[in-house]
Amino acid sequence: MVNIVLFGPPGAGKGTLAEIIKRYSKIVHISTGDLFRENVKSSTPIGKEAKKYMDEGKLVPDSVVIGMVKERLARDDVKKDGFMLDGFPRTLDQAKALDGVTRLDTVAVLDIDKKSLRERILGRYNCPKCNRIYNIFNDRLKPKMEGQCDECKVALTHRADDNEETFEKRWKAYEEQSTDALEYYEERAGLVKHVDSNKILALTEKDVKGMFGL
Ligand code: AP5
Ligand code: MG
Repeated sequence: MVNIVLFGPPGAGKGTLAEIIKRYSKIVHISTGDLFRENVKSSTPIGKEAKKYMDEGKLVPDSVVIGMVKERLARDDVKKDGFMLDGFPRTLDQAKALDGVTRLDTVAVLDIDKKSLRERILGRYNCPKCNRIYNIFNDRLKPKMEGQCDECKVALTHRADDNEETFEKRWKAYEEQSTDALEYYEERAGLVKHVDSNKILALTEKDVKGMFGL
């Protein structure tokens, strides 16, 4: 059983790498952003609270995020197949809280420059049903039929926070609040693996299995 954290700035490819890992393993994918978006859609108390921050490109308070993640990690599927956390932790306190409940095998950090992220964010579309991630500016990531999910055949959606103004705020939040968490992990020998984000689409089964010890 393997426990992974996928770490990186907005649009770095955390969700895309999770989709690639899922092709070769049963590891449970937990995206805090997806969990919040589902809560927003169903207007739960967590969703109502989170929306205020997400629309502003700010981090949702630790008190809300940590409880939600702990509850998800306690479920049977995670205990059986391990997890890949996508978008958590994002602050030093979140990283410390995670240490209190589980062990980690790998923290994969997606390296990419800010300029490339803009195009990724503006070209991204998601399937509202299966959450699959597309990009209209990349031939390998385009849907077969414009505006439609290849699998579910439903209309793709554009995230409310995928615009230039909110992207700048999300980037600032990453720089100001998430680098501490990364430094905390970098201090532990052998835990952090840097991955060139521009190369993830070419990763083979052998690469993925080798990288994460699957
Ligand atoms: P979240 O949903 O996690 O957003 P994010 O961190 O900004 O990351 P993204 O989902 O935008 O990017 P990604 O790295 O998954 O990239 P993707 O694979 O889609 O969080 C949203 C909000 O929720 C936060 O702003 C915050 O408010 C709140 N939140 C969530 N977690 C929180 C936490 N722990 N604490 C507090 N608040 C929290 O790829 C991007 C695009 O690029 C796609 O179109 C993809 O197709 C394309 N792409 C991927 N790889 C490549 C490639 N190699 N070449 C070309 N294109 C590529
Ligand atoms: Mg994502």
